[in-house]
Amino acid sequence: MGSRRFEPGGPLRGTLRPPPDKSITHRAVLLGAMGEGGTPVSAALSSDDTDATLRAVAALGAGVEAESRSDGALDLRIGGIGLRGPGARQRSGEAEIDVGNAGTLLRLLPGWLAGQGTGAWVLDGDESIRRRPVDRVAEPLSRMGGRVSCRDGRLPPLRIEGTELHAIEYRLPVASAQVKSCVLVAGLLAAGETTVVEPAPTRDHTERMLAAAGARVEVEETTVAVRSAAGRRIVVRPAARIDPGRIEVPGDLSSAAFPIVAALLVPGSGIRVEGVGLNPTRIGLLGVLHRMGAGAEVEEEAASGGEPRGTVLARHGPLRGTRVGGAEVPLAIDELPLVALLGCFADGETVVEGGEELRHKESDRIAAVVGGLRGLGAEIEERPDGFAVQGRGELRGGALDSRGDHRLAMLGAVAGLASREGVEVAGIDAAAVSYPSFESDLASLHAA
Ligand code: S3P
Repeated sequence: MGSRRFEPGGPLRGTLRPPPDKSITHRAVLLGAMGEGGTPVSAALSSDDTDATLRAVAALGAGVEAESRSDGALDLRIGGIGLRGPGARQRSGEAEIDVGNAGTLLRLLPGWLAGQGTGAWVLDGDESIRRRPVDRVAEPLSRMGGRVSCRDGRLPPLRIEGTELHAIEYRLPVASAQVKSCVLVAGLLAAGETTVVEPAPTRDHTERMLAAAGARVEVEETTVAVRSAAGRRIVVRPAARIDPGRIEVPGDLSSAAFPIVAALLVPGSGIRVEGVGLNPTRIGLLGVLHRMGAGAEVEEEAASGGEPRGTVLARHGPLRGTRVGGAEVPLAIDELPLVALLGCFADGETVVEGGEELRHKESDRIAAVVGGLRGLGAEIEERPDGFAVQGRGELRGGALDSRGDHRLAMLGAVAGLASREGVEVAGIDAAAVSYPSFESDLASLHAA
C-alpha cells in the first residue's frame, strides 16, 4: 500500500480534462455487451473499476477491443452477445465473475443475468466489496421471480441462477441509481411492464442510454428540482434486442470535483476543467458550491452523445457554511466528502444530513470522513446520517488513511494541498479505482 505526502505548494493554475465518467463507462460496456453488433465507445475510462467490467463482459462472451488514446482514455468496440447471450453460452455449471472493487458492476450485472433462462453465475470481489450490501438488488430481483442468494442474506458473493422474470412495480427504499438500473435492466427481460419509483431523482444515465438503444423506456415527471421531494416513475418494457449505437463518454464531474475543490481552497488558484459531464442528476455539488459563495462557474456546451457537458472554472475565494440534505443528497452523493473538507475552510457551520447511504460506499464514508478530517485538525461531529463541521478557515494537516477507498485517498491529497502542514495519505494508490492520473494531473496544475 503506497503512501504519499501532499504539501501546501502554491496556487493551482492551468487547464485540465478530467478522466472519463466512471458510471457512464460501466453502463456503456454493459449495454454494449447486451447489444448484438459492435458498439463503439469513445473516450471510455481506463481504471481499475471499469477494467473489472471489461473483464466481466469478456468472461460472459462479449468481444472487447480496446485502443489507448494519448489522453489515457480508451476507445472501445464491444462485440455484443445479445440480451439473452449469457444464458445461451452458459447452459450448465456455474461461472465465477470477479467484480473487483466495482459496486456499480456488482449491482447492475445481476439485473441482466437474473433474466437469462439458463445458467448460473457467482459474483464476488475484493475485501471491500464483500462488505457492501447486495440485498438491495437481491430483493427486487427475487420479487420478479429471480433466483438470487447471497452471504448472510446481505453480502457478496452473490449467486444468480438464470430464470424467467415477471414485471413488478418497485418503489426504491433508498434513492440508489445502481438499484434502479438493476431493476430496469431486468425489466428488459421480464414479462410485462416494469416500473421503478424513485423517492428522489438519482443519476439517470441508464434511462438515457437504454432509450438511445431503442428500448421502450418512459420517465414520468422528469424535472429534477434540487431539494424537491418529487420522485420519478420509470417504466421499461421487454425488448428483443437493443442497439446502443456510438457512445461518447464525457469527463467525470465526480473526479473533476477533486481538483476543483483544491482550486477553491488553495489561495491564488484559478483553474479550468474542460469536457465535464453536466447531467442535471450529477451536479448537486455545483448548487452546494453556489450557496457557499464559491468561485465556481459553468460554461455549458451543446449536449453530445446524449449527455450535457461543459467547462467548470474554479478560483479561490472565501466560503460560507451551508446545509445539504433531502433531494440534493443523491445528486451529490460521491462529492459529500469534499463538502466536509470545504466546510473546514468556510465561515460558520456546514451540515450534511440524510446521507446515511454514505455508510455503504467503498468505505463507511461518514466514519471515514469524520475520522480522517478530525485527524487533520478539523472540528467535525459524526451524525447517524451525515456530519457537522465548524469552519475555522484552515486545516492543520497530519496523516490520513484511505481505507482502500479511492475518494478518501483523493480527499486526503486535496486536504494536504490546502492544509498548513501537509497530509501524508496512506493507500494513495486507491485513487486508480476511478482516477489513475490523479497525482500527475494535480502536479500539472502546480507546474502551470
Ligand atoms: C453510481 C451510483 C451511486 C454512486 C456510485 C456510482 C452509479 O451509488 O455512489 O459511485 O454508477 O450508478 P448508489 O446508486 O448506490 O447511490
